[in-house]
Amino acid sequence: MSDYQTILVERRERVTLVTLNRPEALNALNAQVLDDLLAALADFDADDGQGCAVLTGSAKAFAAGADIKEMQAMDFAAMYGRNHFSGYERLTQTRKPIIAAVAGYALGGGCELAMMCDFILAADTAKFGQPEVKLAVSPGMGGSQRLARAVGKAKAMEMCLTGRMMDAAEAERAGLVSRVIPAADLVEEAVKTAATIAAMAPLAVLANKEMVNAAFETTLAQGVQFERRLFHGLFGTADQSEGMAAFVEKRPGAWTGR
Ligand code: CAA
Repeated sequence: MSDYQTILVERRERVTLVTLNRPEALNALNAQVLDDLLAALADFDADDGQGCAVLTGSAKAFAAGADIKEMQAMDFAAMYGRNHFSGYERLTQTRKPIIAAVAGYALGGGCELAMMCDFILAADTAKFGQPEVKLAVSPGMGGSQRLARAVGKAKAMEMCLTGRMMDAAEAERAGLVSRVIPAADLVEEAVKTAATIAAMAPLAVLANKEMVNAAFETTLAQGVQFERRLFHGLFGTADQSEGMAAFVEKRPGAWTGR
């Protein structure tokens, strides 16, 4: 874990806390950050002792975007030829949940990274934006698509075309974030929420994440069918028997992950 150059990784019981750590660049996302995040989240996903991750930044910036200094000299051949930023899609294939805990700036790739997580908890200091148009480019890590799905066309279009930032209160009203938390309590509250998730039966957590995500990829009928089949599948798990017995016997469930 000490091999990472741009992130800090801490395990708090069944919660993995990943902190972006490039303070000199407001956590701008360069190639090393992606490599570090992919490695840390692959470790997290493979570790049966871990149930939920929290991804956070600093008080000033979750991440101020893709690293502009790294992109400055790149041309079309470098970008298209190497399919630049496609590696971020691998983060979204993490099967266990990841909560983004956002304080300060989440701009450009920073906003996009937060939206790749399963939900966003925002400090009251959070500011979200897609300011790439001001650099004569556009979102490149899924921002135009995920923001439009999260907040609808009007706000997504305005933000992409003007670069206007949304504060935490507006982001909560618009449905971009699930809750706003006083900045001083953000990380503790996110870890607490992650611990709640990590205490659930692991297969049920995977299934719940998978079916909510299906809502963004399928028709309603297909999504409902997918949900029902996964729901049926959970009745093949030992934890379902345990969960329902524990309810009836008025005691906490003891999960085996089977
Ligand atoms: N890339 C590289 N370096 C960055 C950066 C970024 N995205 N954002 C900030 N930094 C660096 C600054 O260059 C500065 O470094 P130096 O001290 O070496 O000059 C340091 O971080 C501190 O930043 P500022 O002095 O600018 O801090 P500020 O408080 O005055 O302003 C800010 C904060 C409004 C967030 C401002 O830094 C800013 O506008 N950053 C760029 C935001 C942006 O355009 N993001 C989109 C990037 S493109 C993208 O993300 C593409 C994509 O979709 C994938």
